[in-house]
Amino acid sequence: MVQHPKARSIVRRGLRTGESVRVLIPHSRVGTRLKQLAKEIRREFPKDPLHLIGVLKGCVLFLADLARELGGEVSFDFMAVSSYGKGTDSTGEVKLVKDLDVSIEGKTIIVVEDILDTGLTLKYLLRLFEEKKPKHLRVVVLLDKIDRRIADVRADYVGFTIPNEFVVGYGLDFAERYRNLADVCVLQFDSRGKAKS
Ligand code: IMP
Repeated sequence: MVQHPKARSIVRRGLRTGESVRVLIPHSRVGTRLKQLAKEIRREFPKDPLHLIGVLKGCVLFLADLARELGGEVSFDFMAVSSYGKGTDSTGEVKLVKDLDVSIEGKTIIVVEDILDTGLTLKYLLRLFEEKKPKHLRVVVLLDKIDRRIADVRADYVGFTIPNEFVVGYGLDFAERYRNLADVCVLQFDSRGKAKS
């Protein structure tokens, strides 16, 4: 589990009343880990063109940074599924909002997810992708909240295993806010906070 010395620092700028964030994983640590993940992926597929499929929108910063660390031929596509709406609790429902633009048949696919929580989203996506007959299908997630898992799925590559807390930043949001924080942070509410979200 991630426990970093900076974990107690509070970022205050641009926050709504009743909300605060605590840095869980500083941006510099994310950068170091992405270099390692890219090496691990390239070790498994040294020559293959890699087709990254990002799950919008949380994947955007992660995918952009990871792609720059992967040498060789790399292409992107994006999927969008509905999951959390405006709150912090999963509805458990997964609905396809945007499908892939190009075929994945015969390609080496790396699904890029921001966070693996219940696993319901990933399970749904993997079933969809497997039917399309890729050459290889792998999953990389930045964050894994392993204690929250409901569906029987796992990622092939995991950036960080984190505790069961709601995190924002580095692409992850709460009601579309906080995606632009450089660090991965835990979102905290006081009595004035959550009611207004
Ligand atoms: P799952 O289907 O429960 O695994 O959830 C996957 C999706 O839920 C992720 O791609 C995120 O969009 C969202 N999610 C889960 N946990 C968090 C969190 O702590 N912060 C922000 N979004 C989250």
